[in-house]
Amino acid sequence: MRELLRDKVSVFLKALQKEWRTEDLDSLPGSAGEPAAELPRVKIADPAALTEDEIDALGEAFGSRFGMVAFECERTTSADGVHPLVRLGEQIRDVVPTRWAITNPSDGPDGTVKIHDVGTPQTSRSLTSLGMAAHQDGWLSMRGVLSVTGLWTDEAPLRAACTYGQNIVRLALDLRREDEEAFQSLFMDDAVTVRRLMDGAVVATSPVLYSKNGWTYSFFREPNDEYEIASGSQSAAASRAVDFLVSRSYFGSEGSAYTKLDRPGRGLIFNNRHCVHGRTAFTDDDPAGKKRIIASKWWVSDPEYRTLVWE
Ligand SMILES: [Fe+2]
Repeated sequence: MRELLRDKVSVFLKALQKEWRTEDLDSLPGSAGEPAAELPRVKIADPAALTEDEIDALGEAFGSRFGMVAFECERTTSADGVHPLVRLGEQIRDVVPTRWAITNPSDGPDGTVKIHDVGTPQTSRSLTSLGMAAHQDGWLSMRGVLSVTGLWTDEAPLRAACTYGQNIVRLALDLRREDEEAFQSLFMDDAVTVRRLMDGAVVATSPVLYSKNGWTYSFFREPNDEYEIASGSQSAAASRAVDFLVSRSYFGSEGSAYTKLDRPGRGLIFNNRHCVHGRTAFTDDDPAGKKRIIASKWWVSDPEYRTLVWE
């Protein structure tokens, strides 16, 4: 059993070295004790015509320990009706794994999905003004498929949310430094289970870390009043591992990052395979017409999913 886990660890770490272009994962700085940081925004003039410097800056921030890039565009429209976020994704393929854009049935004519408070109770909190616990996009229906998520402020609300995130893979490497056995248990098939509190159903059982087709993946979620997160295994090491990740997945937790989508043209792109992301509550001002509308786009990096249509 332990030997099998050690093999999985070794394959994963090799793939990670390749993906992060480093020979020495041990020398990467940890985030223990680091206060939550507001992400610096990469300044972009025209998202439909990025300069080489802008592309480099986006790639560098994506490869940072956060795995998240906040940006701010001067130009907030594109001439051809395609959303600037879609155009931006097309131009950063060499530095961010946005190789193939996902087609989503909810895509509007500009090619993005609009996220806003629809004013009625929803099964998911996405289309409300409530806070959302940190999660990975597609975590329930198409786990691991969506490589990169892009968010863009079409319209800002009266009081913006903090959109926050944590890099689960970097966090796991922090754990490895202090508790190798707990780290290895993250590769168990039942390393983490997600239980829906409403009806007690286990809606996901998964390794926290795994690799597929040479790509590295994580799976995790912040617990809240909707879902309980636990290790599926009875082992003490597996419980220590899940407790460690839970303790660092909240808004404001050590090593996490956040940004505010509080002005048209401000956005966030992140590694959805490695990072969880959530948001705090926000306040629309409907009488004044100040409503939060976020344009969203997703991309895949593994050719196996290149023709995928989000059902
Ligand atoms: Fe999300």
